[in-house]
Amino acid sequence: RADLLMLGIETSCDDTAAAVVRGDGVILSQVVSSQVVQKALNDANVSESDLCAVAVTVGPGLSLCLRVGVHKARKIAKEFRLPIVGVHHMEAHALVSRLVNKDLNFPFLALLISGGHNLLVLAHELGKYVQLGTTIDDAIGEAYDKSARWLGLDIRKGGGPALEQLALEGDPKAIKFSVPMRQHKDCNFSYAGLKTQVRLAIESRNIPADHISISSATEEDRQLRANIAASFQRVAVLHLEERCQRAVEWALKMEPSIKYFVVSGGVASNQYVRTHLNHIADKNGLQLVCPPPSLCTDNGVMIAWTGIEHFIAGRFDDPPAFDEPDDMQ
Ligand code: KG4
Ligand code: ZN
Repeated sequence: RADLLMLGIETSCDDTAAAVVRGDGVILSQVVSSQVVQKALNDANVSESDLCAVAVTVGPGLSLCLRVGVHKARKIAKEFRLPIVGVHHMEAHALVSRLVNKDLNFPFLALLISGGHNLLVLAHELGKYVQLGTTIDDAIGEAYDKSARWLGLDIRKGGGPALEQLALEGDPKAIKFSVPMRQHKDCNFSYAGLKTQVRLAIESRNIPADHISISSATEEDRQLRANIAASFQRVAVLHLEERCQRAVEWALKMEPSIKYFVVSGGVASNQYVRTHLNHIADKNGLQLVCPPPSLCTDNGVMIAWTGIEHFIAGRFDDPPAFDEPDDMQ
């Protein structure tokens, strides 16, 4: 397996990311942003002709962004006669856990939490996934991002990390937010209501909402915001815990041999989230597998690794024909 070299390209969101990963899971390079593909190859000391295939995100994501990556991948594939592996962004979030933990075999339960998705999935085998739950409105990452903005945090490095930081200074029991969907005995999620509760809490406490920076807040005001952040995080994660506990029970009924609980996606880089979901795993005799933060947030490694998994299973498209136009429609 060490002889397989995969180039992964990720462009489902604003940033472009790429990586070269070896079949045994060794990450040879990992880069983001412009001129990313050439840099990933250079850093890995690999040229296009050494590759076994090119993996690229085909969805879900913004179609304009996706096209950038697919176009690039097809160009390389055509020029160097390489197969292409089309990768589903959320599958990649789940499968990168198998690069991190080589003992992680199918079947396993996965919680995927990002800015646009909240998924509970029972992974039976490669390519065979059963969805146990999804969000009926907003994903948890969206709730973190909006709350962070309303609290006046510096969100240049992302709203989630900023809110997690502020919450450390707050009292998580200070404000009574209600836990979503308790009356629904399923594994679905809802974060739109909690988002609104946060906004109302901010407005009712006369914190000037929207674009009023916390850096100019009084000490008392800062404490108030920290309390809101901590209380939001407590309930947001409690909602995750409740749905995951039910999903574990459902999953073990369907697949009693499950040993692992995977938690991945951008929000999984949050330490409070990791600690609480580890507790759920423990309580149910499962082992938590949570990739390191750099592999939880969007990255090229997860695309390359998922490419490797599918390539080994023989699931790839032949190189584009020479007479095919370069430009995708
Ligand atoms: O998976 P990802 O990088 O991109 C998507 O596919 O959406 O996830 C991005 C989301 C953002 O909403 C971001 O605020 C959130 O993950 N996030 C966090 C943390 N780090 C990133 N949320 C809470 N705590 C964090 N430490
Ligand atoms: Zn993502």
